[in-house]
This record gives sequence, structure tokens and C-alpha cells, in this order.
Amino acid sequence: MCSAQPRGWAVFLLRLKSMTELTVKVPGIGQTEYQIHIGCALLGTLLDRVHTQFPGHKPFVVTDQNLKDAGHLETLIHGQVNGKDIPVYVIDPPGEVSKHIQTAVAIVEAMEKAYLGRDSVVIALGGGTVGDIAGFAASLFKRGVPVVQVPTTALAQADSSVGGKTGVDSSVSKNAFGVFWHPAAVYMDVDSLATLNDRDFRAGLVESVKHAMIQDAAYFEYLEQNITAILARDTQVLSELALKNCRIKGHVVQIDPLEKNMRRILNYGHTIGHAVESASRFGLLHGEAIAIGLIGAARIEMAMGLGDQARLNRTSALLETLGVPLKIPREITRDTVLDLIKRDKKAVDKWPKFVLISRFGQVHQVNGQWAVDVKQEMVNKVLDSLY
Ligand SMILES: NC(=O)c1ccc[n+]([C@@H]2O[C@H](COP(=O)([O-])OP(=O)(O)OC[C@H]3O[C@@H](n4cnc5c(N)ncnc54)[C@H](O)[C@@H]3O)[C@@H](O)[C@H]2O)c1
Ligand SMILES: [Zn+2]
Repeated sequence: MCSAQPRGWAVFLLRLKSMTELTVKVPGIGQTEYQIHIGCALLGTLLDRVHTQFPGHKPFVVTDQNLKDAGHLETLIHGQVNGKDIPVYVIDPPGEVSKHIQTAVAIVEAMEKAYLGRDSVVIALGGGTVGDIAGFAASLFKRGVPVVQVPTTALAQADSSVGGKTGVDSSVSKNAFGVFWHPAAVYMDVDSLATLNDRDFRAGLVESVKHAMIQDAAYFEYLEQNITAILARDTQVLSELALKNCRIKGHVVQIDPLEKNMRRILNYGHTIGHAVESASRFGLLHGEAIAIGLIGAARIEMAMGLGDQARLNRTSALLETLGVPLKIPREITRDTVLDLIKRDKKAVDKWPKFVLISRFGQVHQVNGQWAVDVKQEMVNKVLDSLY
């Protein structure tokens, strides 16, 4: 699909208006809908498109040093636009280590120093950390200005750039400061994934596996059948992946934008996964920890009669091909993981509910609830089996 269009431009339309654009509706939160644009070679024309969508608005780009080094910032701003320099804030060092309130403060102050006002638009060029920080800063600046998300990692294109969750970490926990600040638009240029390192690329694909498991059995098969092309970063297949992911995430956040109930299904594999991620003190990437969490969920399903060995085998095989870990690292004790599960932000009386599937594409529901009770003894046994 990338090569079929002039300049590789491709956009899609959900709800079958036409097949060119995907719209996510966010009822009740300021802006009512936004478009997700997916394709190749989008970065070079993006500023013109933002200019068209926000006439008279002044862009402010937030990115990180790795994006700058990889040349993506230059492709985006190509020096200047309409004869005026574009102010840029480059997060350095890149990654989670800079995802704290001081970075958000620095971005807001950089915008002030650039004489920007409420007529500005923030462009977040980067992975999930840049998107989360820039979106959060945009929500704070002058009581909120629009943010355009331009995700450049497999994780951000599958997950974090859609849905409006933004925030930064405190010294105590992840995303402690946070708001819903839905993007004004999302531009996914799959070409940008070419420069991402292999470990981040593979870990980011775990969110695609999660989406397939909770919503779309045919998508799971697609992943199995196209895994070689995916790992070779075939842009056509990556565009297809982005579209499938956005359809699923867009559909869920449209129904439940504030995570009152159904949106919780996106946390599939995350109850154990988050605990393992924290216990590893971020030695494991998010997607790597979630892979372990997906296997944990599959084992709970088997113990509860919701799943079988054949499904677990298919899940393990796909994740193994991605090269992500399927076992909890030995240096992390079961009790540490258990303690962190009890501290899950959705826990009630120190024990959270779990999202489980009854088959690929089908989340198990009890009395209309998408997260269900699982006994702690069962989780203990499952955790033991994850070593
Ligand atoms: N808002 C949400 O809904 C949501 C959902 C899931 C995760 N997240 C957050 O996302 C963050 C993780 O995001 P991530 O995995 O994208 O990590 P990241 O943003 O740290 O990116 C990973 C690394 O890749 C580099 N990078 C990014 N794009 C690149 C490219 N195209 N070429 C070369 N290098 C590139 C970055 O500089 C960084 O070093 C976490 O903070 C997590 O909490 C948010
Ligand atoms: Zn996740």
C-alpha cells in the first residue's frame, strides 16, 4: 500500500466512509474526533498538513536525541517552514529516564521563551516516552493546546499514540502525573521504524499480539503468517499492522474513553506484566514484560478452564519468534512480583481483577465486567510456572 500512492502517502478511513482515513471519536472530551493517518514518507509533508489543519497555529516540535540523530527531525522540519524557524525541544537523554515532571516544565518554559501562545500546536515526534511527555506538556501549556502525535516506535504506533493517555513518572511510580489529552491528529510514518533498534522493535510488537488476542483471531493468524515480513520491516505489512492495531484500539477507546470498564481489556497481560516490569527496575522493556504477562494470562486461563494447551502453544510460538522473554528472570522473586501485583493501581483490597480471554479475539466477561476475579493461590502457582 505504501508504494501504490504518490510519495507513499496512504490514509485509511474507518466506518467504511472510504478506505482512506481512520477516525477515532472521543465522546465528551473537548475535541470530538481525530484522524489517524498511516503510510510511508509522511514526515516530509507533515508540517504542511498540520498547517492546513491548524491555520495560523504555530508548531512546536518535541522530540528526543535519538530521533534527531536518526535524521527524522530534519526530515520533519527540513530547516524551516513558510520561511520561519520552527522551535524544537529535544529530550536528552531519551527514554524513560527523562519522563519526569521537570522535562514537562522545561518544555512549557521553552514554549514561553519562543513567544508561543494558545495558538500553538505541539508536534510529538518519537516513541511512547516523547508522546506521553509532549502530550502532557501540551495539556498544561496555557490551559491546553492541541498535540499532534507522530509515533516512531512499534509500541507507539500500535498503542500509546492513540487513546489520549499522557503523563510523566514521579520518583515513586510510573505515570503518577497524568491526564487524558487526546491528540488532534496522529501521523504514523512506518518508514520511521527502519532506524529503530531491534530490541525495541521486537518488544513493541508484543502490543500487536495483545490486540490480536483480545479482539481479532484473524489478526493473530495474520501475525503468525507474516512474521518474517514483519521482522524484515516490510513497510506494506507494517502499514497493515498499524491499521489493524488502530482499528482495535480506536474501537475500544471510542466505547470507553475514560477506562470505566471495557478499555480495561487493553490491560490484557499487563497485571502480571507491569509487576514484572517494575520488579526488573526497567531492565526489561515494557513489551518484554508484557510477553511474560501474556503467557501468565494464558496459564491462568488454562487453570480456569478458559483455555487449552494448543492456544498456549500458539501464543508462546509467536512470542518466541519475536525473540522476547517468556520467563521471569531468576533474580526477580515470586514474592516481589506478587507484592507488586497487590499494588496494581486497579487493585481493590490489595488484589486486582484480571482480564482473560476465552478464545482468540474474545475477552471473557462475567456479569458485564471485562476484568474478573482470580484467586491468589492460582496466581501463585502460575507465577511459579513462569520461571
Ligand atoms: N500513553 C499510552 O497509552 C501508553 C501506552 C503504552 C506505553 N506508554 C508509554 O510509552 C513509553 C514507552 O514507549 P516506547 O517503547 O516507544 O519507548 P521510547 O519512547 O523510550 O523509545 C524507545 C527508544 O527508541 C528510540 N527511538 C524512538 N523512535 C526511534 C526511531 N524511529 N529510530 C531510532 N530510535 C528511535 C528512543 O529514543 C528510545 O531510546 C513508556 O513510558 C510507557 O509508559 C504509553
Ligand atoms: Zn502495554
